[in-house]
Amino acid sequence: MQNNPKNLPKKEKSPEESSAHVIVRMFPSDANPAGNVFGGEILKHIDMVAGIVAQRHAQSNAVTVSMDSVNFIKPVFVGNVLKLNARINYVHNSSMEIEVKAEAEDIVTGIKTITGTAFVTFVALDKNGKPTHAPKLLLKTDEDRQKFAEGKIRMEERLKNRKKSSK
Ligand SMILES: CC(C)(COP(=O)(O)OP(=O)(O)OC[C@H]1O[C@@H](n2cnc3c(N)ncnc32)[C@H](O)[C@@H]1OP(=O)(O)O)[C@@H](O)C(=O)NCCC(=O)NCCS
Repeated sequence: MQNNPKNLPKKEKSPEESSAHVIVRMFPSDANPAGNVFGGEILKHIDMVAGIVAQRHAQSNAVTVSMDSVNFIKPVFVGNVLKLNARINYVHNSSMEIEVKAEAEDIVTGIKTITGTAFVTFVALDKNGKPTHAPKLLLKTDEDRQKFAEGKIRMEERLKNRKKSSK
């Protein structure tokens, strides 16, 4: 991926500019014999949509360094349409926190249920595969400011846990 070849400072961007959603149909191969979709299948889509947001924001390659607060609140079944909504909450230097919400729709009844949530941390990489600055976040709304403040607290907690687990 060609990224910022002249190393120009990247323009601040609002969370709205990089937000993304992905819609996928769940098939029998995604589920156990009772028809419950595997958590790992949902995680794969969470990682993918969060990666779109991170790369859109950073305008560079970006890789997953952590996933946390993954909650499967309600089951997703074969035949459901799974919609994943993702937005960026917080940027430090190269690291970015992306929040993903999963919603399952029963196509026949039209009923939509929030089935899961997760936070995914990505790191922006330069063309040599080294961490590089991501653009700052342009906080336009009260929600943007609140999510940024909450994201900062969670990131500090992650870094404390990272230090502990690498001992
Ligand atoms: C991404 C990678 C190059 C970073 O290397 P590193 O030696 O950890 O680099 P640093 O210690 O300088 O950390 C870089 C940034 O990542 C953040 N970071 C690293 N691990 C983290 C974690 N577990 N949780 C949150 N942030 C983390 C650091 O805080 C730092 O953020 P900042 O630049 O905003 O201050 C390296 O960890 C890597 O290659 N990981 C594998 C990624 C991968 O293959 N993912 C799965 C497939 S996409």
